[in-house]
This record gives sequence, structure tokens and C-alpha cells, in this order.
Amino acid sequence: MKKLIIANWKMNPGSFREAVRITKEEDKSASTARNVEVVLTPPFVFLDSVNRLIEKAKLGAQDAFWERAGKSTGEISAVQLKSIGVKYVIVGHSERRALGDTNEIVRKKFKSVLSEGLCAVLCVGEKDRAKEVAFPPSVREELGSALKGISRKLLGKVVIAYEPVWAVGTGKPESPQNVFEMSTLIRRELFGMFGKKISSQIPVLYGGSVDEKNAADFVSHGRVDGLLVGGASLNTVKFASIIKKVNDI
Ligand code: 13P
Repeated sequence: MKKLIIANWKMNPGSFREAVRITKEEDKSASTARNVEVVLTPPFVFLDSVNRLIEKAKLGAQDAFWERAGKSTGEISAVQLKSIGVKYVIVGHSERRALGDTNEIVRKKFKSVLSEGLCAVLCVGEKDRAKEVAFPPSVREELGSALKGISRKLLGKVVIAYEPVWAVGTGKPESPQNVFEMSTLIRRELFGMFGKKISSQIPVLYGGSVDEKNAADFVSHGRVDGLLVGGASLNTVKFASIIKKVNDI
């Protein structure tokens, strides 16, 4: 299985011109990596232009509303995203949860993305670094609530991203050893829900202060199937190095 590296640009960059520059550079980096699938998730406003520029990288979005169309001012649906070429959609990012996305909202978004045949990248992660419990109950709840009732034939489009909230944008990543433990616990949870055959095919990624220095360690020692990169994905040199290092593992 190819490793998956997703660039979450969040609400960046500040201009169209800069988005074009970053896209061209990152698509070039993507084209040199045979063992890595690179996904760019720009803000909605740049999606169509990014899609026209990429040749190797895949297009992703940072969120999707659960209705297909209608009276939802300001929202964007999975069906609309699909129509312009989006292949992956992040749902349940901690920054969206902080803005009000509850587990119930995340469940509806997740389901709508999968129903359109798109890949849904479900973000889960505990808020605090509480080491006394091996598997934080909030992570179990986030997983269980989104995945409950999802038909087995849609599971091939599911990606799980473990992003401990305290490691996001702080420059303080989780250790590869703990990432290994958490990804194992997440895989065990998926195993309990869906059985070995299907659950072993669901990629589990790590996100949270990933940079060019620690990226390879998360994949080789943390044993994750890829990375969800925030800040470092806006620096084309750092991002190219992340792709190369993971590609060379
Ligand atoms: P940082 O890499 O900036 O910590 O952000 C991680 C993230 O939120 C990716 O979705």
C-alpha cells in the first residue's frame, strides 16, 4: 500500500497567487514520489484552480456539509466537491470540532462524504495528554460514533487520522512510540467493529506538528500509513523533504 501524505493548508495561504505557487511546487514533489500518494487540501475558494494545476497530486477538501443541496447558506456539499474533482474530504478535524462540530455532526458529514464515493479522512484525537489511560475514551467515542452503521462496502474509502489535539500546531508532536501504541489501539478498535480483513485495509495516519525532521520516524517507528501535515505543508521545501523521506523508507 502506498503511504498517504495529506497537506492540510487550513485557512492558508492568504492569496490566490501564493496558492498557485505552492500547488505547482508541491505537485512537482508529488511527481517524484512513487511510494507516496500526495493529497492537497486547499481552502474551498482555491479548490478548482488547484485541481486544474495538479497532475500527480490528488485533490482534497477540508470539510463538507451533510446535505446535498438546498437552503444552507455558506455551506458546501460533498456532491458539489465531487463534481469539481475532489477525491478526499477531511471530516472532524479538531479545529472544526472546536468551532462546534459535535460527534453527531461529524457522523452526518462522514456519511455524506462516503455516500458520494469520496474518501473520508476522519480525524480523531484526545484534547489533553492524559497518559493514565492507554486509549482515551474520547477517541473511542469519536471513532464509534462516526463509524457506527457505515455499510461495509464503504469502508474501503475510510481513512483515520490520529491527531492528538495538544500536538496540533504546537510544535510538540507525540513520540513515534506513543503514535505506534495509539495507532495499534485504533486498529484494534476497528478490528472489533469490522473484523480483521476489512479493518486491516483502513489506513491510519498521524498528524500533529509533523515536520521534515520527524516525518520518517512516525512512519517507520510509529508504523502509521501516512501523515496529515498542517504548518509544514505550506513550506514547499519542508513538504518536499517530508515526501522524499517517507518515499525513501
Ligand atoms: P500542524 O502540522 O500544524 O501541527 O497541524 C496538524 C493538523 O492539524 C493537520 O490536520
